[in-house]
Amino acid sequence: MTGAPSMKAEITAFFDPATFTITYVIAEPEGVDERHCAVLDSVLDFDYSSGRTATSSADKVIEFIKNSNLVLDWILESHPHADHVTAAPHIQAALGGKTAIGENVTRVQENFRAVYNLGGDFETDGSQFDHLFADNEEFQIGKMMAKAIYTPGHTPSCVCYQVGDAVFVGDTMFMPDFGSARCDFPDGDARQLFHSIQRILSLPPETRLFMCHDYAPGGREYAWETTVGEQRETSIHLNDNVSEEDFVKMRTERDAQLSMPGLILPSIQLNIRAGHFPEPDDNGISYLKLPLNAV
Ligand SMILES: [Fe+2]
Repeated sequence: MTGAPSMKAEITAFFDPATFTITYVIAEPEGVDERHCAVLDSVLDFDYSSGRTATSSADKVIEFIKNSNLVLDWILESHPHADHVTAAPHIQAALGGKTAIGENVTRVQENFRAVYNLGGDFETDGSQFDHLFADNEEFQIGKMMAKAIYTPGHTPSCVCYQVGDAVFVGDTMFMPDFGSARCDFPDGDARQLFHSIQRILSLPPETRLFMCHDYAPGGREYAWETTVGEQRETSIHLNDNVSEEDFVKMRTERDAQLSMPGLILPSIQLNIRAGHFPEPDDNGISYLKLPLNAV
């Protein structure tokens, strides 16, 4: 990478216990005048039973950025999430910054335009986001260089973000004792995920990996940081001793037993719109659709 690759990002994690999601603020290190930052995978609180949204999780992130005197450059998504709604519009309204996601979000938009029967009013060109990343595209957080790395498999649009010695892995892999992401959503592909994960695991062993989710298996403490070396040695799904065929077989069999995430129908519907609510009806209320027997 060009620019200042030796800069070590200051990384602050915000864990959301309702959706097991980790939101990150990725900031230029101390000592830089007017430090800039990015937010990755924010969470809008969503109560399905009442249809109410709230911003207390996102407001903690906003408060942190304000209190740290950071300038927000980017509001990043690793992919359109199926388990939580992004708070990107709320954060952008408060702090500015550009929303961005991988350019294959268009495939997810096409798939789910059909599921929700959104018709011609819903654009499937990714234009709801301010920027769409190509594979290996480099960008800057202030003066700090970052890179988008395509990692399809969980969804066709998944990207990881590399900032110096840190990679934010989205929903590719989880902590070594939990394994890897499911591949049974539309255009998911276990074989692709195997190769995507190899892309990340081919980085130097000391590369720091930051998870998007943690489920604390076995009652351990929540954790979200590991290394390439640790994954290659100890991941229960994809260590150095697991072949492509074994991984695909394991992933496919496991996915066949998983139920749908509790918030998939509202989450995807909003996340393919970059988190913006559908146009309100003439009573001023926004509505979501609930497709029956379609997913
Ligand atoms: Fe996901």
